[in-house]
Amino acid sequence: MKILLDENQLNAGVNQLALEINKTYRDRPLTIIGVLTGSVVLLADVIRKLEMPLRVGVVQTSSYEGSQRGALTINTQMMLDISDRDVLLIDDIFDTGNTMSEVVELMNALGPASLKSAVLLCKTGRQKVDWRPDFIAFDIPDEFVVGYGLDYNDEYRNLPYLACLEPSEISSTSEITESSK
Ligand code: IMP
Ligand code: MG
Repeated sequence: MKILLDENQLNAGVNQLALEINKTYRDRPLTIIGVLTGSVVLLADVIRKLEMPLRVGVVQTSSYEGSQRGALTINTQMMLDISDRDVLLIDDIFDTGNTMSEVVELMNALGPASLKSAVLLCKTGRQKVDWRPDFIAFDIPDEFVVGYGLDYNDEYRNLPYLACLEPSEISSTSEITESSK
């Protein structure tokens, strides 16, 4: 697998992301909501660099891959109360943007004082929505990437670096399987 971002590069990107978040919120209490499962590594790394009073919650999104692709379910049981709070939504990657758009819509309906979003990665030229996250650590080429929380068929999340999966390593089967994002 070709390494796209090594551990040092990821660390520098996450430091920069945390710097921008600290600068934006200063001492204001913040509620961070991570999107499971892909954001777990970023979430663990970034929250330890944040200096404001912080609450951390998660939502889980899952989608039916294959011919049902696009049907998204959002589990909010572990989310925390966000009404009248400053909220930052964190995910691993902004690809089409559909996942984050749906989570943002759901969260906005709950009346946060403010809602911003942060991602580790934004894939160039793939977006199907007309907005971008407020904080982006890296813009990357349109390749399928794994590691640092990102998976292929639920594997590779533990790699400490970000690698590109070759098209030949990605199966083209279209059976319907539920997969967590
Ligand atoms: P979107 O709804 O198209 O923006 O997709 C967002 C979700 O799809 C992410 O949270 C990831 O879980 C997954 N995803 C998109 N691109 C990749 C990739 O290159 N590698 C691994 N997961 C990806
Ligand atoms: Mg995923």
